[in-house]
Amino acid sequence: MCGIIGLVSKKEVSSTLVEGLKRLEYRGYDSSGIATISNEKIERVRSKGNLKFLEEKLLSTSLPGNIGIGHTRWATHGTPEEKNAHPHITDKVAVVHNGIIENNNQLRNQLIEAGTKFASDTDTEVVCHIITSYINSGLSAYDSIRASINDIRGTYAFGVLIASEPNKLFAVRGGSPIAIGSADEENYIGSDTYSLSAYSDNITYLKDGDIAIIENKSYEIFDQSNSLVEREKQSIIESVTLSEKGIFKHFMSKEIHEQPEVIAKSLSNYIDMDNSLLCVPDLPYDLSTISNVTLVACGSSYYAGLIARDWFEKFTNVKVDVEIASEFRYREPPMDSNGLTIFISQSGETADTLAALKHCKSLGQKTISIVNVGDSSMCRNSHASLKIFAGPEIGVASTKAFTCQLIVLACLAIKIGRLNGSLNKDQEKDYVKSLLSIPRLISNTLDKEDEIVKLAHDLSNITTTLYLGRGQMYPVAMEGALKLKEISYVHAEGYPAGEMKHGPIALLERDLPVFMMAPSNTLYEKTVSNLNEVIARDASVILLTDEKGLENIGYLKDKIKTFLVDETDIISAPFVYTLPNQLIAYHIALLKGTDVDQPRNLAKSVTVE
Ligand code: AGP
Repeated sequence: MCGIIGLVSKKEVSSTLVEGLKRLEYRGYDSSGIATISNEKIERVRSKGNLKFLEEKLLSTSLPGNIGIGHTRWATHGTPEEKNAHPHITDKVAVVHNGIIENNNQLRNQLIEAGTKFASDTDTEVVCHIITSYINSGLSAYDSIRASINDIRGTYAFGVLIASEPNKLFAVRGGSPIAIGSADEENYIGSDTYSLSAYSDNITYLKDGDIAIIENKSYEIFDQSNSLVEREKQSIIESVTLSEKGIFKHFMSKEIHEQPEVIAKSLSNYIDMDNSLLCVPDLPYDLSTISNVTLVACGSSYYAGLIARDWFEKFTNVKVDVEIASEFRYREPPMDSNGLTIFISQSGETADTLAALKHCKSLGQKTISIVNVGDSSMCRNSHASLKIFAGPEIGVASTKAFTCQLIVLACLAIKIGRLNGSLNKDQEKDYVKSLLSIPRLISNTLDKEDEIVKLAHDLSNITTTLYLGRGQMYPVAMEGALKLKEISYVHAEGYPAGEMKHGPIALLERDLPVFMMAPSNTLYEKTVSNLNEVIARDASVILLTDEKGLENIGYLKDKIKTFLVDETDIISAPFVYTLPNQLIAYHIALLKGTDVDQPRNLAKSVTVE
């Protein structure tokens, strides 16, 4: 994913900016660049490829100035050419960006109609021109940036230079992390702890909607209501390494909060951002004629398969089976010779799933593995493999890998639907648009973590609980229950809400906590009926729903606890309803004092049968 560095100092900054970019290389990139302000003029040098090419250019093109920004780019909008490398500039503004601007095409077209000439294919250049237009209209630098972020939709972290403000560096957060690091008479901005840890012993993360105005000896942060705010300044762990937790208490917490970024990175590998169309790599067999799809996995990866079943059934009109690998491999069911079997695995080393892969290959199945670890056994042994690009997942409980698995599964289902004619281009564009909204929707939920903390305090003494949902919310419920049981050791069971009356309703008793996931969709009314059954037996319901869902339960809302999320659709609902469950499990486990990252009896990869 992209990386941002910025610096305002009393000394020249260009060489420090390049060193800062080197600390961002681990994030993966295909081009880089820096910009500074000298004599109120913006100067810039960029290069395609490795940072050493940028350094070579800088040997012959000096960049004077004691204020600047730098960027390592992972191509999303636009090919990895120099013209698309950041910073993007006009005569008045320079911008570096991490994230995805969802309404990029609409804004670009408006600017072109107004006479703007573009030098790149990127969404970032759009933002650069919007800020410039506000400055040209007479707004201050801060007001121009604030007005610009009100025009855009998506996820973003920006570093901004304004030529007329040569002593002020601007940082903006909207879904992608960006932080300030203070040092002696100089202040830095960076995408993460690791990028800043070489220059500062402290870090102040901005919150979504914040704009920071940073000078070399001080800075101010304004929230989205333009109020001056304080953000927590935290110490940076001295020996921060790439896989260190940084400012997070646990890897699981870091990985939960990384999801907007890593999902954006995963999306950028499977979607052509310029045209909002899929660009899933071609597979070594014809997907347009497959007769059925079998999804095979274990644990959370199995629940990802259950969620994806809705997408494959609705988008491809092909029969879909979802199998637990340890059951499937011994049952050895008959399989259609023209079938596709998809193996889902974060580690790519799960013994039962590998055994199932071997069995399916012996039956002549077309196989594909969806993995996070690229050189894993499953990757090597299947006919094709699609990486999920979640980055190293250290916490045993799967979070970002689970949601990135869903991204790739959704893209694959749409691709097959387009290939076999079940989906048309407009439907593809609609589903892709929904996929592109997921980083923002997840970020919105993460912003409400303090509500989850309060909820966790109320539930810290629970010993057993139920998670209920219908349709895709049923596997979401099972994944939520798994998160809670595997890190807090509380017995939790995910169940189809419609199945309660067939037995489990006998479990209900006063104050038993029951989590219910109910997006305001076609199954909402049925889920509310189940909600009534649960309340009627004095159990304590925690309802996850959206504004419309809350309105429709009327007086019942006074009898339950609620956590509101954004409105969703068939694509975004599993992501948006999984996030609160991840946070609930984490904060209850935190209160119970269990070993969140290495829970008892568990391994990150179950390579034994
Ligand atoms: C999920 O939180 C668990 N760590 C576990 O269920 C895991 O999903 C399962 O062991 C499968 O692992 P894999 O994805 O690496 O195959």
